Amino acid sequence: MNIKERIDHLRAELHRHNYNYYVLNAPEISDRQFDDMMRELQDLEDAYPEYRDSNSPTMRVGSDINKNFVQVPHKYPMLSLGNTYSESEVADFYDRIKKALNEDFEICCELKFDGTSISLTYEDGKLIRAVTRGDGEKGDDVTDNVRTIRAIPLVLHGDYPKSFEIRGEILMPWTVFEELNKEKEAREEPLFANPRNAASGTLKLQNSAIVASRKLDSYLYYLLGEELPSNGHYENLQAAKRWGFKISEHMRKVRTLNDIYDYINYWDKERKNLPVATDGIVLKVNSLRQQRYLGYTAKSPRWAIAYKFQAERALTRLDKVSYQVGRTGAVTPVANLEPVQLAGTIVKRASLHNADIIESLDLHIGDMVYVEKGGEIIPKITGVAKEMRGMLLGDKVRFITHCPECGSRLIRYENEAAYYCPNETACPPQIKGKIEHFISRRAMNIEGLGPETVDMFYRVGLIKTVADLYSLKVSDISQLNRMGNKSAENIIKGIEASRQVPFERVLFALGIRFVGETVAKKLCRTFSNIDELSNASIESLKGIDEIGEKIAQSVIAYFSNPQNLLLIEKLKSAGLQFARSSQDDGEGRTDKLKGQSVVISGVFSHYSRDEYKAMIENNGGKNVGSISSKTSFILAGENMGPAKLEKAQKLGIKIMSEEEFLALIS
Ligand code: IVH
Repeated sequence: MNIKERIDHLRAELHRHNYNYYVLNAPEISDRQFDDMMRELQDLEDAYPEYRDSNSPTMRVGSDINKNFVQVPHKYPMLSLGNTYSESEVADFYDRIKKALNEDFEICCELKFDGTSISLTYEDGKLIRAVTRGDGEKGDDVTDNVRTIRAIPLVLHGDYPKSFEIRGEILMPWTVFEELNKEKEAREEPLFANPRNAASGTLKLQNSAIVASRKLDSYLYYLLGEELPSNGHYENLQAAKRWGFKISEHMRKVRTLNDIYDYINYWDKERKNLPVATDGIVLKVNSLRQQRYLGYTAKSPRWAIAYKFQAERALTRLDKVSYQVGRTGAVTPVANLEPVQLAGTIVKRASLHNADIIESLDLHIGDMVYVEKGGEIIPKITGVAKEMRGMLLGDKVRFITHCPECGSRLIRYENEAAYYCPNETACPPQIKGKIEHFISRRAMNIEGLGPETVDMFYRVGLIKTVADLYSLKVSDISQLNRMGNKSAENIIKGIEASRQVPFERVLFALGIRFVGETVAKKLCRTFSNIDELSNASIESLKGIDEIGEKIAQSVIAYFSNPQNLLLIEKLKSAGLQFARSSQDDGEGRTDKLKGQSVVISGVFSHYSRDEYKAMIENNGGKNVGSISSKTSFILAGENMGPAKLEKAQKLGIKIMSEEEFLALIS
């Protein structure tokens, strides 16, 4: 066997074993054998790059190239389905179909998977494109990310049509979702509310290597094309199953309304045992001929409908409403309930979201309220059983006017639903939250310190602001409960090391409202030290790319507060970095690209995409995501997306190679 044959053989075998494992759930070989074959293939591909192939099983590991997504029009629009919530609405649908067709028909019953929808295009048995739903007319090209999903075949087997589309749902299984949120919690990152958000968030990640690590799954439920194997929807999907797609085993063809009810009632209970989230069932007229006859309304097909399961709901008494103050000062109302059993757990507290929602519910203490747990982690109050109110109505729930922690009068910013406590520098949860943010990994990254230790230090009065951290001694810490000498020394070492953290991260660590990592970086590029920044005018701030009124105002407000200026002085004397280092300082900066908007597209060989982005900005240019008539040129690597290429040609925009670009700025 020559090299090419060996590569082809390994690819075919790996595709087959992948299908056995991820689609059929019936592996024939051990994980070890699979890994060995994959390694051999990877080695061969590295040694013989001329045989590279974007549909090789090795591509499933993803790449760490950052990219902006290209928008692609859908060949057939991606419509949504009409929703129903009751058996009588299902009966109306059935009767409508019966009347319109006036002949025998079959209904295909399916689970409604609760993930994010995707449209896959295959040509000559190969995956060529994966596009999100977007606005239904056009979506994002997420092919590289989708290639990492093992349940999606990259190459097909059997008797597939030359060209077709198949649509389905990308899902994050419950176990993966729970694991991911655990990791996020440990890293102090915001959690995903449900597997649907987690799946769509993952699919939109810029780095496909991270997507690969997230273990997404997928079910396909709709085949489209000009040369499909059968006139039946169910039969087409069974054929797709033979070509290598993951098709749900739980589809059933039925004829009567009673069969439909049986299916609904069975899955309403049984769905709790499925590995992925479902939020209803979908009913489709099976015959494609009948589908065509029934047609579409502006938004959805007349031949299909979704029945949504009732979210699990319980009725219980509202005891009181308490209020939590977060790091940013946002005040969240929480309903304290008489404990009630709901979807396998006992619920005592539920979210009330904001003042407007409390008002619209017309809540009174002692009311019997409905608590729902959809796919969300935190249950919510969705209604009041007003008919159960007795003669004596409890007090009306009115959103508090003063902070429950520090007594300051709450404020509400324009266009925001939340109330805030403005006492940033003296309100305990805000101070603790600010310290926790300051020490976190992406900010000062102080090892050995975590939220609990911060809480303890704050309670015993060791620290009142982040500046106090820098005067701590080992002996201050080691005498505290549960703190040995060793941990105390580690904490001090961690604090010591943080004095070297660069300016941009120090700026992020200060926790200025709306100044996240990216904005902090941008500010550091414009202002070489904190004094320049604190004296900046609103105009000069707004002159910075992507900094608008809201951020600029917030920066100005931060530096107008004398307490913040005092804190910065203290941190300065503690030796923190409040100026750009000489390395970042203007070195290599030019105006060569001044006023130019540059789009980056494709795969590069000399530098990474991020490095090119930095070069554009260092030379006075602006990196923008999408092509428009204002684009000055496109910095194009290999494999620039076809849609981008077409648009560039249409608008007559120059396409520049890596080499040309490097020569330009050198
Ligand atoms: S069929 C024209 N089948 O529900 C009909 N959709 O509200 C195309 N969904 O956007 C959709 N499971 O994301 C279909 N078995 C299933 C489904 C399903 C989940 C999603 C899909 C669609 C939405 C419609």
